[in-house]
Amino acid sequence: MELFSHPEFDHHEEVRFFHDRESGLRAIIAVHDTGLGPAIGGCRMWPYASEAEALRDVLRLSRGMTYKAAMAGLAHGGGKSVILGDPRRDKSPALLRAFGRAVAGFDGRYYTGEDVGTTPADMDIAGGVTQYVLGRSSGGSGDPSPMTARGVLMGMRVAVRHRLGRDDLGGVTVAIQGLGHVGMRLAGLLAEEGARLVVADLDPARVEAAARRFDARVADAEEILETPCEVFAPCALGAVIDDRSLPRLRCAVVAGSANNQLAAPRHGDGLHRRHILYAPDYVINAGGVINIAEELHPEGYRQERALQRLGVIAERLSEVFTRAERRGEPPHRVADAMAREIVGTARRARAA
Ligand code: NAI
Repeated sequence: MELFSHPEFDHHEEVRFFHDRESGLRAIIAVHDTGLGPAIGGCRMWPYASEAEALRDVLRLSRGMTYKAAMAGLAHGGGKSVILGDPRRDKSPALLRAFGRAVAGFDGRYYTGEDVGTTPADMDIAGGVTQYVLGRSSGGSGDPSPMTARGVLMGMRVAVRHRLGRDDLGGVTVAIQGLGHVGMRLAGLLAEEGARLVVADLDPARVEAAARRFDARVADAEEILETPCEVFAPCALGAVIDDRSLPRLRCAVVAGSANNQLAAPRHGDGLHRRHILYAPDYVINAGGVINIAEELHPEGYRQERALQRLGVIAERLSEVFTRAERRGEPPHRVADAMAREIVGTARRARAA
């Protein structure tokens, strides 16, 4: 398995592998960039099919966190942890404490938090051995999903204004894929704004709830991709825009919370060619990290401050769309370049 020449390596500052004999912990922590400040990124526990898959995931996710934090205007870099294992079977307090010790070893250059397969209660345990843990069950910033949904809503407004010249979301049809923590909240916020909703989820109970509460039309998991709508909002899995889905989309805007929505950068180019405006995922879904980063404010976490900071999502997206239009380039490429510019400037300022 290669590291320095790995296709996703992208100048990572540090990648550490951990093993704890007693608890069985096998983990990788990647710190991509601390040019803007200490890295932030959650801990994912997943039964990876191979070590190579785990390494690829942690490298991609930690780089994504660098871009996300930079575009959100945070004084933080990007990092991520993965624990190799099945969270239902392999998780134990001893394993989480061993993970906490691994985080402690970074001496504050990396802050962890919950992610897929870990919970605030897990963070309480890991946080028993290190202070560099965010998102604990009490005294912290709480569930990030409401902030993420609110940020997506704000970003969606910007995208709709830019692409369709409409000032609000009233009467706009939004197709939401995934009614989990973020998708269901987003549906509620959109319904309040008078948007027309079409929804899909693999869980029929969630779909029924959305249909009942928000008068949403129901589509199945395949139909949602080709639903005629103004906005397609991916709020389920990553890599939803791929060779198969791209030609089927019948929307003007793609704006949702899912991480890594493009299977590959060329799919963003494909959206651009089809005149579908793509709101780069790590810009529009930054509400969660903006919220959790507030825990590190010298006066402690305050929700009002986090809410105020969410405005940066709309500002940045607007900047991305304007630059993209001026240059005739796809927004995802413009956003990547902007994020690299922000990090590069911070690095040079530090070095000077
Ligand atoms: P979740 O796990 O609560 O919800 C995901 C939902 O999508 C579930 O209801 C699931 O049944 C559904 N789903 C899965 N596959 C589907 C498919 N093929 N078609 C339709 N529905 C499907 O996750 P959550 O927290 O709502 O996050 C959603 C996305 O947003 C994820 O990609 C996550 O990484 C991303 N995200 C979440 C943040 C947060 O604050 N929770 C922050 C930033 C990104």
